[in-house]
Amino acid sequence: MCGIMAYAGPQQALPIVLDGLRRLEYRGYDSAGVAVLSERAGVSVRRAPGKLDNLASLLARENGALRGTVAIGHTRWATHGPPTERNAHPHADCAGETVVTHNGIVENYETLKTQLEAEGHRFTSDTDTEVIAHLIERHLTAGADFPEAARLALGEIRGANAVTAVNARRPDLVVAGRTGHAGGLVVGKGDGEMFVASDLPAILERTRDVLFLESGEMAVVTSAGAQLLRLDGTPVERRYQRVQYDPMAAAKGGYRHFMLKEIHEQPRALLDTIQGRLLPHAPWARLEDVRLTRDDARALRRVVLVACGTAWHACLVGKYLIEELAGLNAEVDYGSEFRYRRLLLDEHTLVIAVSQSGETADTLVSMEAARAAGAKVLGVVNVVGSQAARLAGDSAGVLYTRAGPEIGVASTKAFTAQLAALSLLALYLGGCRDGLPEDDARRLVEALEALPDEAAAALGHTGDMDPLQGAPPESVRTYEALANRYHRAKDFLFIGRGIQYPIALEGALKLKEISYIHAEGYPAGEMKHGPIALIDRDVPVVAIALRDPVYDKMVSNIQEARAREGQVIAIASESDDAIASKADTVLTIPDTDPRLAPILATLPLQLLSYYIAVRRGCDVDQPRNLAKSVTVE
Ligand code: AGP
Repeated sequence: MCGIMAYAGPQQALPIVLDGLRRLEYRGYDSAGVAVLSERAGVSVRRAPGKLDNLASLLARENGALRGTVAIGHTRWATHGPPTERNAHPHADCAGETVVTHNGIVENYETLKTQLEAEGHRFTSDTDTEVIAHLIERHLTAGADFPEAARLALGEIRGANAVTAVNARRPDLVVAGRTGHAGGLVVGKGDGEMFVASDLPAILERTRDVLFLESGEMAVVTSAGAQLLRLDGTPVERRYQRVQYDPMAAAKGGYRHFMLKEIHEQPRALLDTIQGRLLPHAPWARLEDVRLTRDDARALRRVVLVACGTAWHACLVGKYLIEELAGLNAEVDYGSEFRYRRLLLDEHTLVIAVSQSGETADTLVSMEAARAAGAKVLGVVNVVGSQAARLAGDSAGVLYTRAGPEIGVASTKAFTAQLAALSLLALYLGGCRDGLPEDDARRLVEALEALPDEAAAALGHTGDMDPLQGAPPESVRTYEALANRYHRAKDFLFIGRGIQYPIALEGALKLKEISYIHAEGYPAGEMKHGPIALIDRDVPVVAIALRDPVYDKMVSNIQEARAREGQVIAIASESDDAIASKADTVLTIPDTDPRLAPILATLPLQLLSYYIAVRRGCDVDQPRNLAKSVTVE
């Protein structure tokens, strides 16, 4: 996610804003920019692609010319438009007087941009953010003052957004506002100075007195303080709270590790990946960067999904979805194996490469080989502008997961975002190929819309999670108890059937890569063909047994395991009140469409692995021998 920092006070604003942005670097970004206000020079904007050092070098060449006591700054994690200077924030209106920074996704930006262009507004970037500056300009032109123009503009944008804005005619103030459940905006109160940031670490060295903007609120901030109001104009009273913990802890949002924070960010990652991409009619999904027309989709005869590690598990789920929803033959291969095969591909083959980093060597080599063999290549990628995005960009295009930067080495939110993206792709292919009955497609669209809230429920979230809170206490108690019981195990078995078999593999990988316990994932139907010999009282068995077509068979597997003194942890549907008598432990998830259930079934497995690894004293965010992205072969 992007980093936001703003200052209003008696000091020179620029060094303070740059310092705040540096403290947000852990969030990951690919460009940066600042806007400084002064009576004399109005608003001055400087932006640079890449790291903050590039921006700092640009500013250094001006020998401190940018002076002013109010400024806003931003580090951008690209979602719309590549990471270039042109797309870096802040973005300005036509007059160059109103300047904004933004975190989130303006879901209705295309409609707004079309309207604004028709009214004569000229856009200079590919971003959704820029529409906010022009919306404010439209209201200023209509006679509203700057805070009112900003309030009206915030009321017109849809989706989860966090925004700061300044205007040359009001060099004394910053407006900050939130819509939807975007990442937070925190207001900090100093001694005759004020701060606004997207995250606590940016400001904790300067003040510990903070308040958080809620969704649908804005703040008008001057050096004297912050006036809060709802976007309908009604004033808001809120007390400042004193933050006790240190900045690095704050970077983890009150969570002990980035991995746990990212596990609990999954409802937001799913929302960002899904919102704005569903349609109420065929082809049921609108995938803006995917270059597969209806005719292209109808001409396909075969799909090959290629990836490594956790992303390979996502491909296995994608196979089921593409076969079932699009009626297309789909196969899956490891990137490290695909590259050695005799590739019998042609223009009727779609190769889908899945990669969080977009930099995994084996996956990249496979993409190049697939293109050389004549196939269309599509990327499902989390990092805008990565090599995989570029390799797919001029072929079948890119379907971006919008999970935000994933810092923990063990992939969590990127994986479930990959599953959501592959669900959207399968829906789109089915919609293009007329293989999907309309009523079934509508059911899936509704199930996808409900998924972020169901994921929140599966994670034990209540209401709008407070960034200071960390993990829900009930969830911590449940999984710490499980970790106390199972952290000494030497072997674990994970079993599932059908579309849940890949989730058994993913659960095993999560456990082994962060706790170093040997764990195997198996198709449950294979138990009698060997693995059942492993089971005794020292080998916990995790069984994914949801209310789906293979439920009864999974219950039989559970009974077989328990007959051999195996301790069974069942991942079950909330509606299942019978399974408690069959398993030692039951972890439930909300009932959803079985084709989307892998996304929810993954969540308890991630938590189980995390708490066992913590109980074993492992370095959860940086497991031994592992790198976040395997850029070598
Ligand atoms: C998963 O937890 C691991 N970090 C690893 O298996 C990872 O999924 C794999 O290296 C692929 O990375 P990518 O998605 O960036 O291509």
